[in-house]
Amino acid sequence: MRILVTGGAGYIGSHTCVELLEAGHEVIVADNLCNSRKESLEMVKRITGKDVLFYEVDVTEEQVVEKIFRSHRLDGVIHFAGLKAVGESLEKPLSYYYNNLVSTMILTKMSLKYDVNRFVFSSSATVYGDNTVPFKETMKLLPTTNPYGETKAMSERILMDTVKADQSFGVTLLRYFNPVGAHESGLIGEEPNGAPNNLMPFITQVASGRREKLSIFGNDYDTVDGTGVRDYIHVVDLAKGHVMAVEKLKPGVEIYNLGTGRGTSVLELVHTFMEVNELDVPYEIRERRQGDISSYYADASKARIELGWIAEKTIEDMVRDAWRFEKKQAEGK
Ligand code: NAD
Ligand code: UD1
Repeated sequence: MRILVTGGAGYIGSHTCVELLEAGHEVIVADNLCNSRKESLEMVKRITGKDVLFYEVDVTEEQVVEKIFRSHRLDGVIHFAGLKAVGESLEKPLSYYYNNLVSTMILTKMSLKYDVNRFVFSSSATVYGDNTVPFKETMKLLPTTNPYGETKAMSERILMDTVKADQSFGVTLLRYFNPVGAHESGLIGEEPNGAPNNLMPFITQVASGRREKLSIFGNDYDTVDGTGVRDYIHVVDLAKGHVMAVEKLKPGVEIYNLGTGRGTSVLELVHTFMEVNELDVPYEIRERRQGDISSYYADASKARIELGWIAEKTIEDMVRDAWRFEKKQAEGK
């Protein structure tokens, strides 16, 4: 298949390009590089030995998007492009609503116009809000605490309503849990701009000495050791889930959780990182972070049964690969 990957130069997108190419598909990337670098696509080529056609474009611009659809007969779209920093979305809500919703609407419109019937959308476990765990695809969604989360819930609704009106269109909504780690080559991985918001990149930056110590946000939650529990998933497993989803896509809407189904606490993750990589990560316990929930993880059975997908990599693999990428970054690759 020939797949348009929006946001393909980014963290999850670049790993998905690798898996698509290795599965024999052709990849066209559309990315405006607002949170990534062109070099990641060079690395994708180095890993796979295959070429990627790259358009440096903003996918909220209808005319440039249409030009891509007109120039290539596409079989599917995987739509990763979007802004994703929760805190920033509270400061700049309009940018988030504009970027994340307009891009989804334009890509949907073009898919319908050019008869591209496979559309995979990057959603997030954040749409479950404060539901009881484990999160299941059939749950009624609850409000999220920030504009970023709302853009994911709204994009899901836009796509579902589009399918109701045009039943030949096929959409798969993938709800990611907490993607971490990097490709085992160490050539692509997560490169946050400025101070990382998420736990794993913060740990690797403390381990490399770029930051002094990790703050652990709260140790008084009702969890195994009082720290927050999440379902961390290796980004390569996540990327493989996209290949299976796009290959199996049929008309209609399907929703899949992509998680391991297992929860890991902050302290468990930090200690596993230190043991596996034989490194020290200084940390201190701080107050809870506003907006955090105590614990969440996936019911991952639907993706297993229907897509034949399971997350194969362990927490040990995640911390090892995250560290390998950080080290290579420091060495300049
Ligand atoms: P990322 O920032 O690394 O990748 C997003 C890419 O989209 C970047 O390369 C960026 O330059 C590009 N982009 C943004 N707006 C664009 C636009 N208007 N036009 C063209 N390109 C644009 O983020 P990621 O972690 O790879 O996330 C990919 C998707 O998955 C996002 O939609 C994100 O919301 C979603 N998601 C991510 C996580 C996570 O923890 N990383 C969790 C759940 C969902
Ligand atoms: C965050 C986002 C969520 C997004 C997800 C994946 C918030 C409120 N939610 O979720 O919308 O889909 O990232 O990108 O931001 N922690 C520390 N110290 C740190 C960083 C994190 O103790 O420096 C703790 C957190 O309190 C949490 C766990 O580590 O218990 C994981 O945090 P994080 O990586 O930010 O992910 P989420 O909070 O799950």
